[in-house]
Amino acid sequence: MQPVMETILHRRSIRRFAPEQIREETLAQILQAGLYAPSAGGRQGVLFAVCQDRAVNTRLGKIKRANAKPRMAKNGNYVSREQPSIADDPHLTDAFYGAPTVVTFFAPKGFLFAAEDCAMAAENLMLAADALGVGSCYIGQGWAAFADPYGQEILAQWAIPGDHYAVCQVLLGYPRPGDPHPTPKPRKSGRVLRV
Ligand SMILES: Cc1cc2nc3c(=O)[nH]c(=O)nc-3n(C[C@H](O)[C@H](O)[C@H](O)COP(=O)(O)O)c2cc1C
Repeated sequence: MQPVMETILHRRSIRRFAPEQIREETLAQILQAGLYAPSAGGRQGVLFAVCQDRAVNTRLGKIKRANAKPRMAKNGNYVSREQPSIADDPHLTDAFYGAPTVVTFFAPKGFLFAAEDCAMAAENLMLAADALGVGSCYIGQGWAAFADPYGQEILAQWAIPGDHYAVCQVLLGYPRPGDPHPTPKPRKSGRVLRV
């Protein structure tokens, strides 16, 4: 199989992280993959805010958890048994799961392709991360992590332009040693329509 196919099939959401920070040269490659993602009209308008301050990440993750209203897993309808999400485990108080690196993707408010541009960049990051042995997880509704006075203070500290908003996050960190790599759920059939 081509290495790119292997990576696509191997990537899984990782929510249990080893405590150590990811190596700087590895992070640089992961970010480069994001910078080379497609963008609408080639505008390259996405801003990547890379935070490795654990106290800040935890606090934002808690704000995000407090603002999230996930449909809790029941009747075996889990998100992940091996890497539980906040929808699986009500005891998780940090929606960033203690990730040592959190990348928040910002795009211009009111820009038609803001979400797509950020998601494209995010997927590139996650694939590069997997190829380099780093675990990752996509977090939607990125703005929810900043939806209180502390979050607003952080946006000012990071000098995020007022006409931009947080679309999503990607969590990065080495998977916890000893954890098995998660198995994907079986793919639902009938989704490819040969029309
Ligand atoms: C739009 C979107 C939003 C997501 N938001 C969250 C989230 O807030 N928290 C989380 O733990 N995982 C989140 N995920 C990750 C999914 O739960 C995960 O991709 C899915 O369960 C499939 O698992 P896999 O990534 O291992 O293939 C999100 C994924 C997408 C595409």
